[in-house]
Amino acid sequence: MSVDTRYGAPSRHDFLMMYATHDAFRRDLERLAAAAEPRTGSLRAFKEGWRTFTYYLTIHHTCEDKALWPPVRRKAGGDPARVAVLDAMEAEHGALDPLMASVDAQLASGDTRRLPETVAELSAALTAHLENEEAKGLPLVDALLGEKEWSAFENEQRDAVGVTGAAQFFPWVLDGAPAAVEEKALALLPSPVRFLYRRQWLPKYRKNSPWGASRA
Ligand SMILES: [Fe+2]
Repeated sequence: MSVDTRYGAPSRHDFLMMYATHDAFRRDLERLAAAAEPRTGSLRAFKEGWRTFTYYLTIHHTCEDKALWPPVRRKAGGDPARVAVLDAMEAEHGALDPLMASVDAQLASGDTRRLPETVAELSAALTAHLENEEAKGLPLVDALLGEKEWSAFENEQRDAVGVTGAAQFFPWVLDGAPAAVEEKALALLPSPVRFLYRRQWLPKYRKNSPWGASRA
């Protein structure tokens, strides 16, 4: 599914930040896979990138498990097709945990010989999950959740990132995003905060990013 199709798809709720966050995970998976290569990669960049990737992935999935899928499940009633989608979301989130734990264990032990293989497995599992969520999970969210429930989920994520955390989150999530997506995402912020993003948050992110500046 192309970026343009997803971002332009008509929906009751605004999935812009959901898609942008998913795309940031996809981007990080590619960077982590390259960094995990023993001859051409960088274990130092991997470790830094991994810390950020897992931090935001944990926030994202914890918030979905707490504030997104439960209200959808309540509204789904006993409809078998809808229940199957929700069960898949839960199972797919659960399947990522051992793969992430394996990467953590390899980094902790210093024996990273299996890192490329484990990252490839994680990448396949997470990519498939994101595609499934976008194709089947989000249409269910759109059909079943009211404005109040969707806002509660968005607030959950906002609280988890935190006010000071926004300074790291926005440059991370928009790193490499198409200009139109960046513009729409920044429009969600008050104008003084947008100013801070450009003058302080973005330069600081680029300076500290293990991946270097991806856009001038
Ligand atoms: Fe998601």
